[in-house]
Amino acid sequence: MTVESVKPATAEASAHGELREPPLAGGGVPVLGHGWRLVRDPLAFMSRLRAHGDMVRLRLGPKEVYAVTTPELTGALALNPDFIIAGPLWESLEGLLGKEGVATANGPRHRRQRRTIQPAFNLSAIPEYGPVMAEEAHALTERWRPGATVDCTAESFRVAVRIAARCLLRGEYMDERAERLSVDLASVFRGMYRRMVIPLGPLYRLPLPANREFNRALADLHLLVDEIVAERRSSGQKPDDLLTALLAAKDENDEPIGEQEIHDQVVAILTPGSETVASTIMWLLQVLAEHPEHAEKVRTEVESVTGGQPVGFDHVRRLTHTNNVVVEAMRLRPAVWILTRRAKADTELGGYRIPAGADIVYSPYAVQRDPDSYPGHLDFDPDRWLPERARDVPKYAMSPFSVGNRKCPSDHFSMAQLSLITAALCARYRFEQVAGSNDTTRVGITLRPHRLLLTPVPW
Ligand code: HEM
Repeated sequence: MTVESVKPATAEASAHGELREPPLAGGGVPVLGHGWRLVRDPLAFMSRLRAHGDMVRLRLGPKEVYAVTTPELTGALALNPDFIIAGPLWESLEGLLGKEGVATANGPRHRRQRRTIQPAFNLSAIPEYGPVMAEEAHALTERWRPGATVDCTAESFRVAVRIAARCLLRGEYMDERAERLSVDLASVFRGMYRRMVIPLGPLYRLPLPANREFNRALADLHLLVDEIVAERRSSGQKPDDLLTALLAAKDENDEPIGEQEIHDQVVAILTPGSETVASTIMWLLQVLAEHPEHAEKVRTEVESVTGGQPVGFDHVRRLTHTNNVVVEAMRLRPAVWILTRRAKADTELGGYRIPAGADIVYSPYAVQRDPDSYPGHLDFDPDRWLPERARDVPKYAMSPFSVGNRKCPSDHFSMAQLSLITAALCARYRFEQVAGSNDTTRVGITLRPHRLLLTPVPW
């Protein structure tokens, strides 16, 4: 079934005034409702919801929230303009990262901001980033020493930030600043998640080491962005990159956009751009260690495509298995595991009545592991993405970058770097987890392993 096949039923139901109320999901308890389950084991909780209906109501304390559980309805939600970016997740992000960036804007302002940033991410722009992506991917393999322990969290953040910063905010100064950015962002994301799940304001004002580190990192992140913008301006240079586009952007009245908006836009692009890619690289490394047969298959593929030369951007298109390993890792371990929207008016979805102001949540993690969509749903099986099998995957059952007007602008940019990094790593090494490594899932703003420690083993 596709979203198109959902829509006629929806329209018909509305025409006859037969909109239904979604059922209440089972398992709630007095006062806390479903909240305790969501806090205790959010992934298992979200994954079980489909058994209760394609859309269900959840009670989170005094608040009622709607959850959509099927690929069709998640697609319909993401494509429906009645649902906007708002709600607790976004409010916490705005409070810390700024209110004027593209990730939290809605309406005409969002459309204008997307028009400014999109050209830097278009498919036609990606080859230009190829040399930087390849250089960074090979720098990783150079830095890692056979037999030494690699702290995958730090290394994944570093490469993700360096690629985003060097490609999009081009400039030599980025090489040194990218290191600072990666340390700051890692601390900021850790602290942001804590503040979201345990929203106890006064607790975070206590002079505890964790709070001091969070405040230091957040302040330094904003300072860095100011420095980057100021230096670009004073350099008088206007390379063809995202920062130049932001500095030249005009608002709805054709006036230059304000300083705050420029600042928040840079933050809004760097922050999702590093956390998501870094988490995905960590999962790729975990998967390659767990499935050495796929690391070996990637190595063989890379060798046959490159003829033994260092892998480069131009090879990526022909690295079918490598790409499928990346996609399958993203299916089972999506960095972005939960998304929310808010109904801006009374509306309907899938034949259900949704009141204005209602918060709707869904989990790409649950959708991408759904046994109804994927045979052998928990198996790591990159070949399910071969064209003859991929056509059986229901529409919207694999949308790690989302769809619709909020779709990640960086899908091509991200896939290119993830495939290139995977290829460069496997061309040289297979990986083994070492004592002290903990690859269980850490649920935060993104999903990532708790503490992945690997050693690279040359082939
Ligand atoms: C939005 C996923 C990498 C910048 C999104 C959304 C998803 C997503 C699911 C949509 C959120 C929603 O529907 O509410 C990912 C994944 C990535 C990735 C899985 C990598 C594996 C990046 C990178 C950048 C980036 C590298 C920038 C350098 C953004 C921005 C938005 C966004 C600016 C907001 C778009 C808007 O609201 O119009 N991303 N992303 N992402 N992403 Fe990504």
